[in-house]
Amino acid sequence: MLKKEDKIAIIGLGYVGLPLAKSFSKYYNVIGYDIDIKRVNDLKKNIDRNIDVDLKDTKIVYTINEKDLKDSNIYIITVPTPVSNENIPDLNCLENATRMVAKYLNKGDIIIYESTVYPGVTEEICVPLIEKNSSLKYNVDFFCGYSPERISPGDKNRHLSNIVKITSGSTPEIASKIDTLYKKIIIAGTYKATSIKVAEASKVVENVQRDVNIALMNEFAIMFDKMKISSSDIFSAAKTKWNFINFSPGLVGGHCIGVDPYYLSFQSMKFGFTPELLLKSREINNSIPKYIALKVMQFINEKKLIKEEAKVLILGYTFKENCADIRNTKVEQIKIELETYSVNVFTYDPYVKLPYTNLEIDPFINNEKYDIIILAVSHNEFRNYTIKDFNRISKEKLVLLDIKGLYKFSTWTL
Ligand SMILES: NC(=O)c1ccc[n+]([C@@H]2O[C@H](COP(=O)([O-])OP(=O)(O)OC[C@H]3O[C@@H](n4cnc5c(N)ncnc54)[C@H](O)[C@@H]3O)[C@@H](O)[C@H]2O)c1
Repeated sequence: MLKKEDKIAIIGLGYVGLPLAKSFSKYYNVIGYDIDIKRVNDLKKNIDRNIDVDLKDTKIVYTINEKDLKDSNIYIITVPTPVSNENIPDLNCLENATRMVAKYLNKGDIIIYESTVYPGVTEEICVPLIEKNSSLKYNVDFFCGYSPERISPGDKNRHLSNIVKITSGSTPEIASKIDTLYKKIIIAGTYKATSIKVAEASKVVENVQRDVNIALMNEFAIMFDKMKISSSDIFSAAKTKWNFINFSPGLVGGHCIGVDPYYLSFQSMKFGFTPELLLKSREINNSIPKYIALKVMQFINEKKLIKEEAKVLILGYTFKENCADIRNTKVEQIKIELETYSVNVFTYDPYVKLPYTNLEIDPFINNEKYDIIILAVSHNEFRNYTIKDFNRISKEKLVLLDIKGLYKFSTWTL
């Protein structure tokens, strides 16, 4: 059913689109389209600014010219799906990409969505847009599919090909065709969902489940902090039970776990149901930067420091470890909170350069000294520092707030 001549167009060459384009390009003609001219120019030189994909020997044709898409017959859309400042789903990129693809669609073509959405977006928002902008009829002239992405940038063990991929299609035949297409690149195999809506919902459910569980751990962490009992010691003990679910407290940032619950709750509320646990969990996780800032202020007071003179070093700025992604990072929130107290905040991240962080040189090889140090992101680069290294960059006695529980010698752990 699939032919070598099949031409796949990947729309949006970010964390999701680029590895996908690379994988498909081993078997098919792949054209990669993005509206970001700098991104496309970099990719033409085999540079991935996300430091995520090795582009040596890839055969992707990159373009910012939408007319180059006209010979494609399979379109895969991997554009961002953020939320507004009010946490309302922002489908602008998805709708723009859909309208654009519709212009070049031919009879028999397939559009597959990989962007994370709430159930119903593909068939109730995108399909009508395609019909309107193409004069083709759904499931007669063109077909759709949805295949959520599960990659986690920075995770060197789990990547596109060794994570089971959920697929779906608008008719049983198209679902099988899409499933076969992905089977070619996914060694771990595929799971054919019973409908597009099921596939859409499965993705948000995965991320909501994580968010809710992390919220519970954060609640435990705050509760036991107040009781002055080590929550990490408690979790280590509790973990010895076979059915304890192993989550850790922490910052929930990024464009997935901290965003997708708003997609699901938005749709749920349209159907008259307010998901209380989901929304409360968002609230709890969003409150953690403020809690950490208050903790820092507590140490500043205990040390009798003048807050305007206090120097706080934050190690790590990205939303997660070992990647360069700073979208919706909660470290920025900690920094903002601390700055409202007029504390001097210094941020360093080996993956992030100025202007997002204000230290360019690794503080461990510098001569500056800090009153309080926060380990915010557990990049591999930070793992091997010893108490001696920390003492060297500390003014007086080391105060190390370890959000990730990375070190045995921390003053405080979340
Ligand atoms: N990054 C992840 O780990 C991850 C994992 C699973 C799912 N997702 C989901 O996948 C989608 C893409 O995420 P991402 O992290 O790859 O985003 P990204 O920001 O890294 O990449 C998206 C790319 O799309 C481009 N773009 C925006 N509008 C466009 C348009 N109209 N036409 C063509 N290109 C356009 C942007 O310039 C950008 O290069 C989102 O829905 C996200 O929630 C992301």
